[in-house]
Amino acid sequence: MTESAETWELSDTEVFTKYGDVFVPRRREQIATVCDLLARIPDPHVLDLCCGEGRLSEEYLRRTPEGRVTLLDGSQEMLDLAAGRVAPLGDRHTLLRADIEDRDWRTGTTYGAVVTSLAVHHLDGAGKRALYDDIHAMLAPGGVFVMADLVEPAGATARTLAGDHWEQAVREGSQERFGGDEAAVAFEKSEWNYYRLTGPDPFDKPSSVAEHLDWLRAAGFAEVDVVWMYAGHAVFTARRGGN
Ligand SMILES: C[S@@+](CC[C@H](N)C(=O)[O-])C[C@H]1O[C@@H](n2cnc3c(N)ncnc32)[C@H](O)[C@@H]1O
Repeated sequence: MTESAETWELSDTEVFTKYGDVFVPRRREQIATVCDLLARIPDPHVLDLCCGEGRLSEEYLRRTPEGRVTLLDGSQEMLDLAAGRVAPLGDRHTLLRADIEDRDWRTGTTYGAVVTSLAVHHLDGAGKRALYDDIHAMLAPGGVFVMADLVEPAGATARTLAGDHWEQAVREGSQERFGGDEAAVAFEKSEWNYYRLTGPDPFDKPSSVAEHLDWLRAAGFAEVDVVWMYAGHAVFTARRGGN
């Protein structure tokens, strides 16, 4: 997986939109878990950070008749796909083209929740810490941050297991979805399995579960937790106090 705002080219977009349901392990379960964690937010306006095709937003809007979303992504192609996906759910979305690393979009609006999936691992440690500080400030009192993302295993054994689980999930998903190994071959060819990479990856910089928990607490969040994890993919939740 080697995308960034500049390098996430159309071909990569096409690969992810075609095979994402297989490449993302237990994707439906992850999306449902993220949305389950939005049950008690103080304001139904949710920011979907690096929204891609808008899968999280789609599920949130489907569950929440009063819900509104702001879809942020660096890729216009992805924003167009996301807009098409959520449009049937009513005029309840705003599109925002921005780079996750910029700070301009982090001021001026308050949200009941910020959600993100498979994107924050592009930031280095300092970038993640700054993002968590800024998200805390953007949330209404009682608001929640929910993040699904790759994490860095704490040791070699856990890394091998994450890679094995991911590969197995993709092989099974490929059979179910495509009736053969088409998606599994694309996964292999595109070297999507971060846990199989032998050298440093300039685009993917996952941090450990412990680091995320520490940084979220340091940003001022309460109820900081990991509620789901499989194949190196984890779902974190954190609540801003005051409600
Ligand atoms: C792997 S996709 C995940 C999309 C979606 N969140 C999901 O889980 O299906 C990563 C997304 O992050 C976006 N992205 C990558 N780097 C970015 C950056 N620096 N700023 C904004 N968006 C970025 C890509 O355009 C892409 O839509």
